[in-house]
Amino acid sequence: MLKRLLGGRHKSTLSEEELMKQLDISKLPVHVAIIMDGNGRWATRRGAPRSFGHRAGVNALREVVKLSVELKLKYLTVYAFSTENWKRPREEVNILMNLLVEYLYKEIDELCANNVHINPMGILSELPPKPREAVDMAIRRSKNNTGLVFNVALNYGGRSELLKAVREIGQKINSGEIKVEEINEQVIADHLFTKGQPDPDLLIRPSGDCRVSNFLLWQLAYTEFWLTDVMWPDFGRREFLQALLDFQKRERRFGGLIT
Ligand code: FPP
Repeated sequence: MLKRLLGGRHKSTLSEEELMKQLDISKLPVHVAIIMDGNGRWATRRGAPRSFGHRAGVNALREVVKLSVELKLKYLTVYAFSTENWKRPREEVNILMNLLVEYLYKEIDELCANNVHINPMGILSELPPKPREAVDMAIRRSKNNTGLVFNVALNYGGRSELLKAVREIGQKINSGEIKVEEINEQVIADHLFTKGQPDPDLLIRPSGDCRVSNFLLWQLAYTEFWLTDVMWPDFGRREFLQALLDFQKRERRFGGLIT
């Protein structure tokens, strides 16, 4: 079990082309989620400022989005900024916000050309004005796209998402719109940022840490985890393909038995 979870720690020596050949396109995950971790350590190890790592992290993200489009994945969810990331020094928060703005304005044409629907998720009203404007622009420009749904978790936390859902459901009970007895799992799922989307099939976490970090707490109930020691800026097409190949070997039982 542990060996499987740590699939990514057994590095493949195969080339991208060889990995691609092994991939069964009919058995790809519908929804892939990624905790893009390790930017800071990657930079520090090179004697560079953390901002250098975050910038390299954006390049890694660009490649992963590109491959997701090529493979026709339906949903990709990335953890770009958590509700806890505000605790970082103001300078680093500003760098992350600026990178987000730069990324969205720079990439929007290509993302739209590739039919990508950008779905920022989190408490967006708390973002500073410039990121807020960039996010609104990305939503507006990509809203009619029907290809990859690209969920960008921004000022996102799984607990704050659940809290928001509980409050909204509570308000609906108060106003008589729904009854307590009518609350079921579907009602809760319908009040999350991922409303209408399938839960992630695969969660990828680079950088060697083995925790969920307040990401998609409800949605990860039956998600397969794939962990690797590779830092996010070094995460490329080969690593993504390895994760997908490893996912294809997993036996998913969803709490039941294989009959
Ligand atoms: C974790 O690395 C990464 C983040 C907190 C931010 C992820 C952001 C990017 C990849 C770039 C910006 C995003 C977009 C959408 C343009 P860390 O800083 O926690 O690394 P460490 O654990 O090594 O310190």
